Amino acid sequence: MIPKHIAFIMDGNGRWASSRGLPRTEGYKHGLEALMRVIKRLDERGVEAVSAFAFSTENSARPQAEIDAIFEQVKKFNRTYSGPLRVTYMGDIDALDAEVAQSVEEVERRTADSSGTLLNIALNYGARSDIIHAAKIAADSGLFSEEKFEESLSGAGLPKLDMIVRTGGEKRLSNFMLYEAAYAELLFLDKLWPDMTEDDADAVLEEFSRRVRKFGR
Ligand code: FPP
Repeated sequence: MIPKHIAFIMDGNGRWASSRGLPRTEGYKHGLEALMRVIKRLDERGVEAVSAFAFSTENSARPQAEIDAIFEQVKKFNRTYSGPLRVTYMGDIDALDAEVAQSVEEVERRTADSSGTLLNIALNYGARSDIIHAAKIAADSGLFSEEKFEESLSGAGLPKLDMIVRTGGEKRLSNFMLYEAAYAELLFLDKLWPDMTEDDADAVLEEFSRRVRKFGR
């Protein structure tokens, strides 16, 4: 069974760079390359959607050089990427620098008709505020139903989340897709994100196929 939607918490970029005597900021460039390797294989295997946690609302407390390094990768990707993946973003994009917001619009527009795997990038995203925002929309509509609530989450329209993979050895969700995680399989890998290969993507799919999903039944 191939999962329809996998989400990645791409942890360990800074440590990967430091362990090679490089500045932590170099890790994000290699992290983006790893994401492209992994998603290429998942696309070949027929995974419909991949969500990737690129920047959390909490990450804005990091040193400015690290923030700049992450956004530099994001802007470079957005300005140059043209397929075969379809790219969308979730998170509070409007609160970001106008150049970043514009590059997000550009890549979403440029890849809108692509037929490959959907790459959903979480940027300036936090699950709790996303949930509160959706709850407010549902409450204001006067029809507070699960359906109305779910369609107001920023990942609405994506296939149901089947699996969350976190690299880098930590075993927590760090405010990522908390509502969507309800019945997702969780996989924690010790590997640092930039070390992820095509074979690791296959291993993730194999692990998923071994899980017995019961959805509470
Ligand atoms: C955690 O690693 C990861 C991040 C804060 C961001 C990762 C972002 C990228 C790989 C760029 C993605 C770009 C696009 C366009 C999708 P960390 O460096 O905090 O890990 P560590 O400090 O635990 O080693």
